Formats: sequence, structure tokens, C-alpha cells
Amino acid sequence: MARMIHILNGPNLNLLGQREPEVYGHTTLNDVERGCTALAGELGLELRFLQTNHEGQLVDWVQEARGVAAGIIINPAALTHTSVAVLDALNAFDGPVIELHISQVHRREAFRHHSYVSQRADAVMAGFGTHGYELALRQMAYFLG
Ligand code: DQA
Repeated sequence: MARMIHILNGPNLNLLGQREPEVYGHTTLNDVERGCTALAGELGLELRFLQTNHEGQLVDWVQEARGVAAGIIINPAALTHTSVAVLDALNAFDGPVIELHISQVHRREAFRHHSYVSQRADAVMAGFGTHGYELALRQMAYFLG
């Protein structure tokens, strides 16, 4: 059976492609999902790709990944910088976790420099643009061996 990876996206990432394109680019989240689905097939991985604007929903999805997903790739968006709840949920997940940011957060406002999720993440990616999602998927395949 193919190993299942969950790619979870937080608030405002539904507007990818329209929102601040000078920061996040013109690629939409649907485009990203399509590329990741194709790559997952090549890597022998199954994919669940989700986005929510709600903290509680993101916590629920991280909890649901327990015992189902081999690994989580998460772009918590603004919740990166605020959510102990998302961190706690990730701490209850056993597999590899990759934290992903489209933009290079460390070159941006100071409030984006701190991440709660980084306390749990096995790897952190920032500044690779939307291409980072496919890079993260390749790294996840490597982590899972
Ligand atoms: C983001 C960076 C966050 O600081 C921001 O709140 C986002 C997106 C990124 O992908 O670069 O919404 O996670």
C-alpha cells in the first residue's frame, strides 16, 4: 500500500495566485495540488491536500493524520507565528513533519521570524516559492526511505 502524506495549508492560502503576487507568485493552490499529485504518483506516495482558514480545523486535520499519514507537510501560514494549538497537535503526531513557507519569512517583518511549529518540524523550508511544495514532497520520500 502506498504511504500517505498529508499536505496541510493554513489561512489565506486559498487566495494563492491572487494575494500579494509579488510575495507569493502567480501559481494557484490548485496548480500546486496538481503538481504535487503527479509527483506523489512518481514517488509512490498517496496524497491528501487540504486548506483551511480556521485554526481548529487545522488542529483537527493534524489529529486525523495520526495513524493514517506517514508524514505531514504543513504551511500553517499566519498560524505559524501564533498557534500553540497547532504545535501541540503536531507534537502528538509520530511521523516526519516538514514546515514549509513559500516566502523567505526571515527576510520579512520581525513577527514572521518566530515559528511555534519549528519546535516540532524535522525540516523547515522558506523562500523556494510554490516549487517548495514539490521539493518538500521529495524530501518526505527521502525521510521515509
Ligand atoms: C507563509 C508566510 C507567513 O508568514 C504568512 O502569514 C503566510 C504564508 C508563506 O508561505 O510564505 O500566510 O506561510
